Amino acid sequence: MTTVTASTAPSTRPQHTTDPLALVDVDHVRFWVGNAKQSAFFYATAFGFQVEQIDDLTTGNRTSAQYLLTQGNIRFILETPLSKDHPAADEIRRCGDGIKDISFNVLDAESAWKAAVRNGGTSAYEPVTRSDASGSVTMAGIRTYGRTVHTFVSRTGSYALPEVKQGGKFMPGFRPIGALALNEQNRQNPCGLKFVDHAVGNVEEGKMNHWVSWYENVLGFSMFKHFDDKDISTEYSALMSKVMASGNQLIKFPINEPAAGKKKSQILEYLEWHDMTPGVQHLALRTDDELSSVAALRRRGVDFLNIPETYYEGVWARVDSMLRQHGHSAVKEDHQRIRDLGILVDADDEGYLLQLFTKPLQDRPTLFFEIICRRGSQSFGKGNFKALFESLELEQERRGNL
Ligand code: FE2
Repeated sequence: MTTVTASTAPSTRPQHTTDPLALVDVDHVRFWVGNAKQSAFFYATAFGFQVEQIDDLTTGNRTSAQYLLTQGNIRFILETPLSKDHPAADEIRRCGDGIKDISFNVLDAESAWKAAVRNGGTSAYEPVTRSDASGSVTMAGIRTYGRTVHTFVSRTGSYALPEVKQGGKFMPGFRPIGALALNEQNRQNPCGLKFVDHAVGNVEEGKMNHWVSWYENVLGFSMFKHFDDKDISTEYSALMSKVMASGNQLIKFPINEPAAGKKKSQILEYLEWHDMTPGVQHLALRTDDELSSVAALRRRGVDFLNIPETYYEGVWARVDSMLRQHGHSAVKEDHQRIRDLGILVDADDEGYLLQLFTKPLQDRPTLFFEIICRRGSQSFGKGNFKALFESLELEQERRGNL
């Protein structure tokens, strides 16, 4: 028996004044999609996710269908509305499929939510607890840029996150989906994706600093790296980006805004196809082995950005000299295979990283994924931005949007 209660009663837990979030982990990333059944098949087939659990008409949910997909420590909830009155229906009508909510696992969702609201955050929804004999899950949301939400999630009993990671039920209402041939295939052919490294938000021109302050004040994040439009500009378009990191640096949120260029910025293109509403531009998924992951994803048909051949003419001199200058060993992965797989490489004073970006995951040029592997570097591939954006602009031109 599942009970749902809404509560605004004061919490007995201590308040975390310096880190209101008291972030334990990324609980899950929620997508709102037009057809969750088909999206689940896409993310499982293309990216190797396990389709684990479901909450839909068969479990008594008459408002939406939700699928839990997992890989490593990544949990996606793909949700589709079952009627025009569900808020996801209007969101999908305006913006198409995309990420609605990046949820944080915390010790006490209600006190984290209260602290965030006290710090100037706007509530998206008040604490709601779902419980049964096995335990409980409490969720409460605040609104970040656009109509994106951060939900605080706290869990007890067999719904605690360590249990969920071991295959336990996600929350009351969900049921295991049962044996799927696709899941078995994916277990035998893993893609090696481990966790969410960062999530990038695109906001309107002039609003980046507003959201930087918001993450500082409301969630107790701090600025991690700073790029300006001199770093990230091509002949035609530019953007500005600042990276916000959670107190324990478990997750980072780069915030992009468009900067003036001769032609349309990729950030502006995103906004125009996203109802002029800020939202999540890309989700970076971490792997320990970029070459194996990208090779596996390419075999599955994942469409990655095409990196210009000329990129590889300059990359080793740039990367190796940076690594040498800071006393780090050279890139250990096979250089020819990196080129054959079309992977990007960048280095900074701490080491290097390997990364590659997919093309948009839906027909609109909005959300995409990044596959990233860090070898010491904690940055975001600044040296690749120019190469990347030239490649992005080529794609933008083909869509007639440049
Ligand atoms: Fe990224």
